[in-house]
Amino acid sequence: MQVFVYQSNERLIESVSEILNQTIKETNGPIGLATGSTFEPVYKHFLANYELPGEIILVALDEYSGIPVDHPSSFRETLLRQLVIPAGLTEKNLLMPPATDNQEQLDAFESRLSAIGPLAIQLLGIGTNGHIAFNEPGSESNSRTRKVRLSEETIEANKKHFEGEMPSFAITQGIATIREARKLLLVATGISKAKALATMFAEPSTPASHIADHPGLTLIVDTEAASLIPERLREIKD
Ligand code: GLP
Repeated sequence: MQVFVYQSNERLIESVSEILNQTIKETNGPIGLATGSTFEPVYKHFLANYELPGEIILVALDEYSGIPVDHPSSFRETLLRQLVIPAGLTEKNLLMPPATDNQEQLDAFESRLSAIGPLAIQLLGIGTNGHIAFNEPGSESNSRTRKVRLSEETIEANKKHFEGEMPSFAITQGIATIREARKLLLVATGISKAKALATMFAEPSTPASHIADHPGLTLIVDTEAASLIPERLREIKD
């Protein structure tokens, strides 16, 4: 695992965007996208500096359940608005986990992923409780795409970004699904993420700890988020 600690937020964003561009140039995808406030400036930077190939496949990690797919705060709409449409692509480029209770359809999403995969890179954020995608605490390392109940902490953290009543359920790729990507790029900023990141190294049962031994894992974090990561692992950047 590599842990790059950026002192400048601008450099951090640039660096994530550069890695994304480099991976796309080398592999042509498919690329796993994350939704959340951490990635919004990354997508902005990417759009201002690079291009997405017209035929690229972009795959989302998760989606809220119980809201229409075209709800303005759905992850589908968010990714279309923040990256896909401004990049000149369409919803045909974006593969979403289906917002359904039907496990057969969720298994079909897994099959589709296997057919197009493995992902060249999966972008990941982390929840303040250590969740990865919507794999909340208690998620197993062998979990697959499924419907989950969101924790109170997640509902509280995400409701400020949600227009209307925040859903209590979501569909998420499982930990085992996420681990199939060739590279995982976990990005975290701010002191609110410090404890969650520390659990990757100290508590071998949190969702984030289940990806800690992935051979292609890179963490890109700012000084605050890194503050509880063992010092010997930190590689300081500008
Ligand atoms: C959401 C998403 C995660 C994301 C996390 C962090 O709940 N399901 O994939 O990593 O929250 O979000 P933010 O970047 O807004 O802190």
